[in-house]
Amino acid sequence: MTAFNFTSLLSSRAADAKPLGMNKRGKYDFAVAYPDPETLPLDGLVEGLRKGLAEDGRDLALYAHPQGYTPLREFVAAKLQRDRNIQITADDIILGDGSGQPIHMIAETLLDPGDVVIVEDFVYSGTLNTLRRFGAELRGVVTDDEGMRTDSLESVIQGAIADGKPPKFIYTVPTFQNPQGWTMSLERRKAMVALCQKYGVPILEDDCYVDLRFEGQDVTSLHALDDTGLVMYVASFSKIIAPGMRLGYLTAPKEILQRAMGAKSGGSVNTFASFAVHRFAQDNLMSHIETINDVQLEKRDAMLAALDEHFSEPGVSWSRPQGGIFIWLKLREGVDAAAIRDKILATDDVGYHPGSNFAADGVSGKNCLRLCFGYNTPEEIGEGIAVLAAALRREGVL
Ligand SMILES: Cc1ncc(COP(=O)(O)O)c(C=O)c1O
Repeated sequence: MTAFNFTSLLSSRAADAKPLGMNKRGKYDFAVAYPDPETLPLDGLVEGLRKGLAEDGRDLALYAHPQGYTPLREFVAAKLQRDRNIQITADDIILGDGSGQPIHMIAETLLDPGDVVIVEDFVYSGTLNTLRRFGAELRGVVTDDEGMRTDSLESVIQGAIADGKPPKFIYTVPTFQNPQGWTMSLERRKAMVALCQKYGVPILEDDCYVDLRFEGQDVTSLHALDDTGLVMYVASFSKIIAPGMRLGYLTAPKEILQRAMGAKSGGSVNTFASFAVHRFAQDNLMSHIETINDVQLEKRDAMLAALDEHFSEPGVSWSRPQGGIFIWLKLREGVDAAAIRDKILATDDVGYHPGSNFAADGVSGKNCLRLCFGYNTPEEIGEGIAVLAAALRREGVL
């Protein structure tokens, strides 16, 4: 029998095919945004799960609250009030499968093909892929080490309006930005909110790294700087507990929250995982965050020291983040670190993402590398950066 062929049945909305399976990982894995595996709170999660099952376990027989396990939403609301001055209640929150799902829900809710979304010149590729999937036209804003430049932001907004395509929203990762590592200054945040109020452009603030600060002072959230209800806000337990828990959250003005709820597929998030995260977080999240930040600071320092030692060539520079897990390495203009990425992974066992994977225009940044210092030990980071420098030199880009 000939195999059944689905091709002629595919919807016009079908996503492009994606290879199945996992990408190869390097021994020195600076590619993917992993947290430190050694400090994962496994015992705390087991204990949290045990408590949750003892107290509420029979609830697993029910389909949970569609917005997600209520005690965990209450925890998130209290955390956002305390840490980010976001004055909401559990009713204003939807838990999602990580923060990726809420971002998808917002994209589905707001975007038609051809709509303009404003993003940083280089920003988290997962969101760029989601936005492209809904046909968004991405327009990048020039950034420096304080985040989106206000003059560039205003001219991009004005340009979109002049083209008859007022921006649907701005997507930004203002704190410990992925991939560039900077944190947007308070002044820039205020200017962004003022421009958005002036031109009527909403913001999707992605704050998933905000708790990973090991130096400096917290900066007020965009959400707290706006009093007109134009900020939608997502964050996640992925980077402060583990991505494997698949728990994140969204808060937004009611109109959008209700629409996002309509776009959420698969019912409520996993109650079993929510039990573990909720009980663990209630008792231990603050001290756990301190522990991981101590470890990540050591790793950041190991990467900075290794970069100082092995990347002293003129024209090469890198960011010095005060938190998060990324360093953005810029090689000299004109070289292509994207073309040699697979070879370096196969030959040298070092993984990285080229900057072009995060580019709003899909092509810029080939001379840049995002290096994640979350996964390997400080010793491995030192070794891996030396191996990477040797490989880049051999390939003629350093
Ligand atoms: C900026 C940013 N947003 C969202 C996500 C999605 O993470 P998750 O769905 O695990 O919360 C990531 C993952 O790396 C990220 O870096």
